[in-house]
Amino acid sequence: MFFMVIPDIFNCGISMSKQFVVQPSANHYRLNSKIQKDLAQEFLGKYSFKPGSIILDIGCRDGHVAQQLSQMVPEANIYAIDSSSSMIECAQTLNSKITWICGHIEDVKLDIKFDLIFSMSLHWMQNPITTLQTSSQFLKTNGDLLLITFPQESPYWQFIDDALAQHSIESFRKQMLTTDQIAKELECLNLKNVEVLKEIRLSIYEDITKLKNYIRGWISYYAPIEENDIDSFLDNSINKSAQKFLQPDNTYCIPYLLVRIKSKSA
Ligand SMILES: C[S@@+](CC[C@H](N)C(=O)[O-])C[C@H]1O[C@@H](n2cnc3c(N)ncnc32)[C@H](O)[C@@H]1O
Repeated sequence: MFFMVIPDIFNCGISMSKQFVVQPSANHYRLNSKIQKDLAQEFLGKYSFKPGSIILDIGCRDGHVAQQLSQMVPEANIYAIDSSSSMIECAQTLNSKITWICGHIEDVKLDIKFDLIFSMSLHWMQNPITTLQTSSQFLKTNGDLLLITFPQESPYWQFIDDALAQHSIESFRKQMLTTDQIAKELECLNLKNVEVLKEIRLSIYEDITKLKNYIRGWISYYAPIEENDIDSFLDNSINKSAQKFLQPDNTYCIPYLLVRIKSKSA
């Protein structure tokens, strides 16, 4: 097993002010991320992998996407990076053949180029433009960059922002990129064949507990919320602002914008 740790230089002059105040537990995330797993499976399931590919997953969290990739392409050489050491510790229990890297993508030094870079985490990055720039530098000629993202304009974020407003907390939404900004940046980076698929979908939760558990998995990446405030935020404010999505069968159906982007290095 190969497990690299990149020194934490999080506040290294990057202009954004996003601070991740709480690191949600890797185990909680693992148990409450079926939506993300299914989306990754759906998108990657349609991709034609080249034999012997070298693949990187950026923002790999508990490692589930890298693990899915290793099952889809057993002969691939898979790398996965996440800035959270607890996530990487959890991820590395999944598969010892994957190279797990603990560090920030914008700081990592790798003497390797990739046939495929995948990320579902662009919207969680402190500086998404730098992430795109770094990703393009790590691609081989004709390498593919595949992104799944929930961009700034996704309608999903609004009820979360409404709930945060009840605590006078402003989210990091303005620091997320819009779909147009991502597409423009990829073109500036000379990536070719940029394909953007935008689709409004419904995220369905069996009950309010499932919804709150899902949100708990990522809320600290979306807003500067203190650990002590998360329970009251979920129990009171999310309960209230999610009421408009409550269905007669007690499920919650919340629309979101799913954006899938494919591009190729020149
Ligand atoms: C909310 S998770 C999304 C995880 C996963 N890709 C998914 O969709 O299921 C975002 C992850 O990105 C990681 N992350 C944030 N900024 C990062 C960076 N600059 N470099 C690497 N990982 C980063 C966080 O530690 C976190 O584990």
